[in-house]
Amino acid sequence: MTQPKTWSDRFEGSLHPAIARFNASIGFDIELIEYDIAGSIAHAKMLARTGIISAEEGEQLVTGLTQILCEYQEGNFNPGVDAEDVHFAVERRLTELIGDTGKKLHTARSRNDQVGTDIRLYLRDKIDDIREQLREFQTVLLDLAADNVETLIPGYTHLQRAQPVSLAHHLLAYFQMAQRDWERLGQVRERTNISPLGCGALAGTTFPIDRHYSAQQLDFNSAYANSLDGVSDRDFAIEFASAASLIMVHLSRLSEETILWASQEFSFVSLKDSCATGSSIMPQKKNPDVSELVRGKSGRVFGHLQGLLVLMKGLPLAYNKDLQEDKEAIFDTVKTVRVCIEAMTILLREGMEFRRDRLNEAVNEDFSNATDVADYLAARGVPFREAYNLVGKVVKTSLAAGKLLKDLSLQEWQEIHPAFAEDIYDAIAPRQVVAARNSYGGTGFEQVRNAIAEAKTLLQTLE
Ligand code: ARG
Repeated sequence: MTQPKTWSDRFEGSLHPAIARFNASIGFDIELIEYDIAGSIAHAKMLARTGIISAEEGEQLVTGLTQILCEYQEGNFNPGVDAEDVHFAVERRLTELIGDTGKKLHTARSRNDQVGTDIRLYLRDKIDDIREQLREFQTVLLDLAADNVETLIPGYTHLQRAQPVSLAHHLLAYFQMAQRDWERLGQVRERTNISPLGCGALAGTTFPIDRHYSAQQLDFNSAYANSLDGVSDRDFAIEFASAASLIMVHLSRLSEETILWASQEFSFVSLKDSCATGSSIMPQKKNPDVSELVRGKSGRVFGHLQGLLVLMKGLPLAYNKDLQEDKEAIFDTVKTVRVCIEAMTILLREGMEFRRDRLNEAVNEDFSNATDVADYLAARGVPFREAYNLVGKVVKTSLAAGKLLKDLSLQEWQEIHPAFAEDIYDAIAPRQVVAARNSYGGTGFEQVRNAIAEAKTLLQTLE
């Protein structure tokens, strides 16, 4: 099979079929088609406006391009490997549709600035989608938090019971992470939203183009000030992969927690059938697949970040074909992050239920109130470090006796230190232990209620 000719008359032969397949990006960059057409429409309008082509030619180009988009959306435009990439595919179809005028579209443009435009338009759009999804995820977290201000859950450090916290406080930690993710993506969007269109192959163009006009047509905030930079950097894509990686880190941590919580050992949540699967062999099992997949998929996204960094590090200015490799990494990052946020949102909204009975048992059966005993003494004049050591001893003897702190009699307390009085029992009740941590950002109920109110305001704030 010989390939139809794509290149100028400098070329006499055609590509080896295997090399044609190797070289082609149409298999994946077709994903960019609507952005490619939008970029071409802006370019065509600019060419007409600056008189580089006639107004009529400009209109013909726009009509033809619009038609290709319709054909694509109706499933009637399926270019094969012979088209090489989406840019050629569209240009070729345009020429079929409108004749020789189609060949004028590429005046004062190169595929290098064209692909740079496409990928930025694509990413800008996807960033907006992901930010919207993050908002939904945050809303679910916030609703869940609002229902659980007074539900207590053991708080851990080193995965050892540390101090009980409000479940709402725990969930709001993820709300805050998602908030920063949302903000971070907003910042990445700013640096993605710059137009390389008109940078040409690398050095600009001899035609009297108006880059600011085409940038404006595409809602870009500005145009790259340096053509070499504009066609060859992908820093915005790396920033995006980095922001996406952080989203995945956050989702993966939450996944890990829900996996633990759903285990028989914790039993803090029960999974609903809509978000769990069974085992093909062990009939008693209910597996937390959603969380496990999110945790697993995070690896792919981190891989794409690494891949893009390595892709860029050795590239001399300006465009190099290596850059074709940015696309699948970007597309897969977008898709993975999107399905993961969606799945975790569903899991939280309707796929699991907190077991308040188990949570209540958990916070009442441990020594996570030990700090409060030390604080109790410290508030009564005993130096904290001395109180800390004393309570350490109490924990040790209680453990040996199979008792919890709440089981000690007042006499036993007073033998430990005369400062103990009847109110020690209130001070170490889990509810009081939580309520007392009323410092800003702490788990005290008052703080948590304020945090919920502030979070609600945040969600109402537009960009
Ligand atoms: N498919 C190419 C890419 O994704 C388009 C740009 C090709 N430019 C070139 N000079 N060969 O990067």
